[in-house]
Amino acid sequence: MSLKIYISGKLYDKDDAKISVYDHGLLYGDGVFEGLRSYGGRVFRLEQHLTGSGNRPRPSGWRFPSPREMAKAVVDTWPPTSITDGYIRLVVTRGAGSAWGSTPIARDPQVIIIADIFRSIRRRLYDQGLEIVTVSTSATIPAALSPRIKSLNYLNNILAKIEGLQAGCIEALMLNHKGEVAECTGDNIFLVRGGVLLTPPVDAGILEGITREAVIELARAPASRSAKCRSPSTTCTSPTNAFLTGTAAEVIRSSKSTAAKSAPARPARSRAT
Ligand SMILES: Cc1ncc(COP(=O)(O)O)c(C=O)c1O
Repeated sequence: MSLKIYISGKLYDKDDAKISVYDHGLLYGDGVFEGLRSYGGRVFRLEQHLTGSGNRPRPSGWRFPSPREMAKAVVDTWPPTSITDGYIRLVVTRGAGSAWGSTPIARDPQVIIIADIFRSIRRRLYDQGLEIVTVSTSATIPAALSPRIKSLNYLNNILAKIEGLQAGCIEALMLNHKGEVAECTGDNIFLVRGGVLLTPPVDAGILEGITREAVIELARAPASRSAKCRSPSTTCTSPTNAFLTGTAAEVIRSSKSTAAKSAPARPARSRAT
């Protein structure tokens, strides 16, 4: 089956899938995205990704496709039964505008769906654990841009990732502007302390990940009451019992965490939900 790319109602071959260079998503990062996985032909938590579990805000000023419209577009692009292991990227941009002034008028918002076969990061890391490093690039200040908006502005995450790669780690831990543990460049973080599951709360400036939510739900299920989510203040200088969650990584244990030379000297502190 040849893979198609969906752009605002039409399916294109990969080489023919193009949008305007005046698109505000490209010029100003003015848009949002979601990453989804499909397993055995079914999309994992599609509804939550499309609604943001009811609390993921959207950039204002333009008509956003409804979850029902988006779900139909996903299924049109990616007939669920045809793929076992898939990755789906949804992108919605404000559309083409002006190159010399950001005019936030959405005359033609663009909905883009890229579906592909999923290729996992090195499988051995799931046995060995993933080494992460605390980097100096901090998470976005919530007052500047709500981390609940999964916007196309990912430059600080990319800079943090580059810092991590320079330190030999494929994932990096970012602190928030108060020096508290926030999240990794593309994953949420959990710590396990004395049978208690700790994870930074949303107001630490993190993306409320769908996988994080699934883990919290499981931890709160009656069958696993030994794992609780609480919000004490805690320090996180060596989270040997840490794991990361994210759509692509799923759940991966951290083998060790180090501080990069350029990382802030003060210890990383984490509060949990
Ligand atoms: C910064 C950041 N944090 C956390 C996550 C994990 O979110 P989810 O579980 O919804 O994939 C992502 C995923 O893209 C992310 O980019």
